[in-house]
Amino acid sequence: MADLDGLKVAKDYHLDVPFANNSESFYVKGANNLDWGMKKHLANIFDAKSGNTVMFAFDHGYFMGSVSGLERLDILVPKLIPSVDVVMCTRGALRSCVPPAGNKAVALRVTSGSSMLNDDLSHEIVAVDIEDAIRCNADCMAVQAFIGADGQLESIDNISKVINAGIRHSIPTMGVVAVGKDMDRTDKYFKHATRVLAELGVNIVKTYYCDNFEEVVAACPVPLVVAGGKKLPENEALTLAYNAISKGAHGVDMGRNIFQSHHPIEMAEAVRKIVHEKATDKEAYEFYKNAISK
Ligand code: R5P
Repeated sequence: MADLDGLKVAKDYHLDVPFANNSESFYVKGANNLDWGMKKHLANIFDAKSGNTVMFAFDHGYFMGSVSGLERLDILVPKLIPSVDVVMCTRGALRSCVPPAGNKAVALRVTSGSSMLNDDLSHEIVAVDIEDAIRCNADCMAVQAFIGADGQLESIDNISKVINAGIRHSIPTMGVVAVGKDMDRTDKYFKHATRVLAELGVNIVKTYYCDNFEEVVAACPVPLVVAGGKKLPENEALTLAYNAISKGAHGVDMGRNIFQSHHPIEMAEAVRKIVHEKATDKEAYEFYKNAISK
């Protein structure tokens, strides 16, 4: 029982001030009507000031094995974490190589089933159950989506199951648009695939940059984050990030263009300049060159 001596009697109810939250809308696109738990996870992912996020994707091992730049997750990941907002990875990488201390958000890959070894990349299953996503403190669950490909039906089944479980526990889902060697990379395709995922109920879509990207953004009612794709020279990767952000992406989910850079930390910091500080690609590249010259 609290000591009641000296207790102040409440009296200033500000009766002339409307309830403060009534006029506020939540800053993450399409999330205004979600519950508190969902919003909290999305707020862990998207910065309240810029509205954007720098996700670091290093989930490649789930179907590629050990790829160049990710040979030693235990060495690379802890060094890069201060420069990113979100780690996007498998639960194996999370538990073995991501320090649990700190305030970085987690985008947990929950589907698998593909492997570079058998050239069958469009069939996946939900491999991580919702209880383990909760135990991993996932801020969103990432599901691969093969829209328009052989595995479309099972992809939609996977996504729907993950969304349904996520809604039960207030964990957002991120749909990851897959592009295979035979798949279209046009704005027509990305408009279709991103919209299908949003209509299914994902809260974030990871997709690729393309011509007319602003139309892809406009047609999708939830935030888009852009994958980096294959390794480019640093200035070109920064231009890709700049184009995506200036046309309405709410962040990047970049992998190879960070971890395959000779200077991954400086590259991640340069990407941050664009994503959070409205830097141009040229300004970010100047920052990168200065940083690596020190
Ligand atoms: C998509 O299939 C996975 O999340 C990839 O591991 C990720 O998208 C690759 O990122 P990046 O293309 O930037 O290397």
